[in-house]
Amino acid sequence: MRRVLFAASEAVPFIKTGGLADVVGSLPKCFNKDEFDVRVILPKYKCMAEKWKNMMTYKSHFYMDLAWRKQYVGIFELEYEGIMFYFIDNEYYFSGDKPYSGDTKWDIEKFTFFSRAVLSSLPVIGFKPDIVHCHDWQTGLIPVYMKDKFREGEFFWNMKSIMTIHNLKFQGVWDIKTIKDISGLPSYYFTPDKLESYKDANLLKGGIVYADYVTTVSATYAEEIKTPFYGEGLNGLISARSNNLMGIVNGIDYDVYNPATDSCIYKNYDARTFRKEKIKNKKALQRDLGLEQDERKFMVGIVSRLTDQKGLDLVECVMEEICSDDLQLVVLGTGESRYENLFRHYDWKYNNRVSANIYYSEEMSHKIYAACDAFLMPSLFEPCGLSQLMSLRYGTVPIVRETGGLKDTVQPYNEYESTGTGFSFRNYNAHEMLNTIRYAKHVYYNNKREWNKLIDRGMAADFSWNSSAKRYEQLYYQL
Ligand code: ADP
Ligand code: GLC
Repeated sequence: MRRVLFAASEAVPFIKTGGLADVVGSLPKCFNKDEFDVRVILPKYKCMAEKWKNMMTYKSHFYMDLAWRKQYVGIFELEYEGIMFYFIDNEYYFSGDKPYSGDTKWDIEKFTFFSRAVLSSLPVIGFKPDIVHCHDWQTGLIPVYMKDKFREGEFFWNMKSIMTIHNLKFQGVWDIKTIKDISGLPSYYFTPDKLESYKDANLLKGGIVYADYVTTVSATYAEEIKTPFYGEGLNGLISARSNNLMGIVNGIDYDVYNPATDSCIYKNYDARTFRKEKIKNKKALQRDLGLEQDERKFMVGIVSRLTDQKGLDLVECVMEEICSDDLQLVVLGTGESRYENLFRHYDWKYNNRVSANIYYSEEMSHKIYAACDAFLMPSLFEPCGLSQLMSLRYGTVPIVRETGGLKDTVQPYNEYESTGTGFSFRNYNAHEMLNTIRYAKHVYYNNKREWNKLIDRGMAADFSWNSSAKRYEQLYYQL
């Protein structure tokens, strides 16, 4: 039996701000239970729903030395859908109204505490993993601590670590003096071949340097981040580690995202019945959002964090042209006020064609995946992307830019061979995107048979965790 511990800052169903939570919450369930004991450790945020906090049980607590401080570490546990989740409790650090405060220095201190507490808790819990699988910058110091403070002693001896990069843009960077003080790590670590990066200290870099293996969430992104454009200043290091770097594409939870059983949507359907039933979701959503009720209208959806990563400046550039009278646009998202206000404005201007829903709602996201004809995701970069996979699963045709995981998961439509599952464009160019939307619209209005075959192929594609979980299993064995 191999034992693996996932350490991360978010996981469904407990806390979610983006795709990281979907991955950390759904992947552990998909390993072969006879061979792998996979558990997950998260912070116990005060902002988690009461429901979950009430289900957790107290396991133990202790006081941990961290640099010159002594900090309380509480451990709670909860078994959910066959997976053991542990939660690190400390009200000083985890009582904000969101997991990330936006105050970088404070967030760095918080997750440094978490990283240290994860390792310190293991002997207390009595779980001795063979591999600690770390996710994103918040856990970047875990591989470093494993090679430092925790190296001696039988418990941690021979324990391996994996660093998975879900988004290289976020690295956890602050000045060296502060991070030395927060982490208690000696000067030895703060050189350019270790944690130092452009004169500052970089937590994710620490993870990439010290982990036994590095993965990211699609094959294309694994290549892209070796280049300056996508490498966010770490492309040199990523290239240097390329012998121990692999891209494993994400999957989604096929039980949660299943149009045949989903209780969030208006009308269930599957790959056989979508021709008749999917449209009922469109009509009901048009009614609920106050759009013109016309089941023939081409409806395009966006469900996204509203940030530059998602290519929304392209949308902004040609928004007037997109909002033509033969199209409806439904947006669900929160983020930069520039984009929130853009969509609000067009909702006001074209009230019966554009619907801006500037909030976060899991239920509404499912309704949109089910109701729309197409889903727009023109990202500047996209490590994997889950929304396009959810769209494919719901028979909603993705329109994407060919980058990262979008390139690996959406096969472009070829009208001559009648192949493909979506529409894509290559350059980061607003008019290329606009032409691609128009092309999709043209096929939708003028060649419904072909459109429905696109949906057939999209719904038949398998983006469950089946094959990717096997690849992680192989990696665990290899280490
Ligand atoms: P990222 O992790 O970069 O945000 P992904 O495509 O990997 O992008 O994952 C985004 C996840 O967050 C999806 O599950 C998507 O449905 C969800 N999501 C994003 N914005 C919202 C929102 N406003 N309401 C509900 N779900 C959202
Ligand atoms: C990040 C990326 C996204 C990816 C998700 C889960 O948030 O932006 O592309 O799908 O992590 O790995």
